[in-house]
Amino acid sequence: MSKGTYYITTPIYYPSGNMTIGHTYTTVAADTMTRFKKLQGYDAYFLTGTDEHGQKIEKKAAEAGVTPIQYVDKIVDETKQLWKLMNIEYDDFIRTSEERHTKIVQKIFRQFYEQGDIYKAEYEGMYCTPCESFWTPTQLVEKDEEKVCPDCGRPCQPMKEESYFFRMSKYQDWMIDYIETHPDFIQPAKRANEMLSNFLKPGLQDLCVSRTSVKWGIPVDFDPKHTVYVWIDALSNYITALGYGTDHDELFRKYWPADVHLVGKEIVRFHTIYWPIMLHALGLPLPKQVFGHGWLLFGADRMSKSKGNVVYPEPIVARYGVDALRYYLMREMPFGADGNYTNESFLTRMNADLANDLGNLVSRTVAMIEKYFDGVVPAWDSAAEEPVGADLRAHCAALPAAVEAQMDKLQFSQALTEIWKVVGECNKYIDMTQPWVLGRDPEKKGLLGNVLLTLAECVRFVAVLIGPVMPNTPVRIFEQLGLTDEALKTWDSLDCFGRLPDGIHVRKGEALFPRIDVKKELEALSGTPEKEEKKADKQEKKEQKKEDKAEKKEKKKPEIPEGCIGFDDFEKIKLCVARVITCERVEKSEKLLKFRLSLGDEERTVLSGIAKFHNPEDLIGKKLILLANLAPRKIMGIESQGMLLSAVKTNEDGSETLRLLTADPIMPDGAEIG
Ligand code: MSP
Repeated sequence: MSKGTYYITTPIYYPSGNMTIGHTYTTVAADTMTRFKKLQGYDAYFLTGTDEHGQKIEKKAAEAGVTPIQYVDKIVDETKQLWKLMNIEYDDFIRTSEERHTKIVQKIFRQFYEQGDIYKAEYEGMYCTPCESFWTPTQLVEKDEEKVCPDCGRPCQPMKEESYFFRMSKYQDWMIDYIETHPDFIQPAKRANEMLSNFLKPGLQDLCVSRTSVKWGIPVDFDPKHTVYVWIDALSNYITALGYGTDHDELFRKYWPADVHLVGKEIVRFHTIYWPIMLHALGLPLPKQVFGHGWLLFGADRMSKSKGNVVYPEPIVARYGVDALRYYLMREMPFGADGNYTNESFLTRMNADLANDLGNLVSRTVAMIEKYFDGVVPAWDSAAEEPVGADLRAHCAALPAAVEAQMDKLQFSQALTEIWKVVGECNKYIDMTQPWVLGRDPEKKGLLGNVLLTLAECVRFVAVLIGPVMPNTPVRIFEQLGLTDEALKTWDSLDCFGRLPDGIHVRKGEALFPRIDVKKELEALSGTPEKEEKKADKQEKKEQKKEDKAEKKEKKKPEIPEGCIGFDDFEKIKLCVARVITCERVEKSEKLLKFRLSLGDEERTVLSGIAKFHNPEDLIGKKLILLANLAPRKIMGIESQGMLLSAVKTNEDGSETLRLLTADPIMPDGAEIG
């Protein structure tokens, strides 16, 4: 049974150019929220679309030598393809050029006019074409001795027109009161204060709502030389898409008022002042919430084509998959705050959170069930004590509620943090319980089974909960877990810990997220603005190093006693912490162990002649010390890329005991030693 309706919208985007990672950010957020609500059993409805009218599009089309509709048709197609690529499952995509929209906008405009909310007058002011906004002289801001648009900082042109005006001033006090008495209406709360102190309390001006200079717009049907101001046109999409004002308004009656409009912070003003006033004038309830999220910046700048720093999602998805990008967008910055996109932070997150934390947890869990239980998920053995896992099981059982609390505040990043806390705890639990040690003792079989069952059930919880952000990944995890029962992939199935049935067959698959070489990938993501910046940076650093070296040479070197090395020599040695991912004996060799090691942003294969002294399984997860810049060499056809440090002691009977040196487990993979 449905838990009720949930209606969520994105802004409708200007199809003046292709959608960037910034537009993708809002759209992924809305999609994530919709999927989450659907998972919980809500009847969720997700609307997005394109805002196609106005002078900017008119100009772009003229420059391209096509009609406005031809111009936008192409971009709308590409936008829809992008949303498909990003796994966006909207319920409707509205285009403001569609008749279902234009007809109703005309009707709404006429109603405003007939009831006296709109009047006709002469208007003279400064107009910002890119923002489609009129500004009074006091609203303009000074930049380089020129008066510019307060929103975008670009020059405005004087404009004089006979226009229709909306009596916003009439609703000013009502609007102030509404915002003040509905603290949840504008989120984050600081944006409500901005609206009150910057726009409402200083006095709300009547708004010019028609243009005679713009042809590519919706004509005012009772005065067709005017077209409807784009913001009146655009904001109406949220109800026209639901069939408001038609004979088929079932969706409107079902879903309105919207639960939340997601918008970038620059358009909060339109959504929390003009739009509520329009709705109030129509006698309609207001959306329950408008959430103004922050910008994805590039360096300190907002992305913009003119600055040449736009990032598009397609090449990133092609290389790393859609789930990795969706995860990054939802995890990197708190919803509401600004954040920086960098290729480096994206790649680092991929390695740390996805390949290391999540990927390793799944692969280790499945591999150990294969190894110790022939791939069959063991049954809970109540005779075997397993006290250490109690906290983890309780934490995981409480996870859905913790995630829900954050999601209901649209705090995607926090919700993911909650999930990753459990992932981290699982990985620690493996290190603590050391299943590979339990596996050597037949008496510990029951305990080992309980550990692995606990892990597998945690993995199931995590898989269900990450689904709204990363829709493809749970499918792959369930496949590896061998879980086919759809009822165990639902929100409701997380009502208690321990539903995973024993007896199902796990199947080790490909790594969920392969580890990547950040340096190499940064190179590969060439052509991005970041790359160019980094190149210049690197060059500068290189030159500085050269200069420093030359300077050092000049200074007289101190004498180095026989048998010692100088600091310069020591500096050449690169030691670092390396975590053992896998360790196995080398076939046909009695001495050699083959290690796969994690150095944080890279992996190495290293051979070591210590098979007599260490059991390979005992070393998995250990943090060892690697001489990382020893020239690679081939041993038995395998390239060894470094040397693991060890200490040896001679025993009384003349035999030797060797131990690999270990680092404190809190040291991150790749931590430099020196
Ligand atoms: N057409 C209007 C909206 C009308 S809604 C009734 C518009 N369109 S837009 O194409 O400029 O899209 C703006 C929206 O795209 C922002 O409000 C934001 O949701 C999203 N973003 C575009 N670039 C962005 C970033 N760099 N960062 C975050 N969001 C960004 O305004």
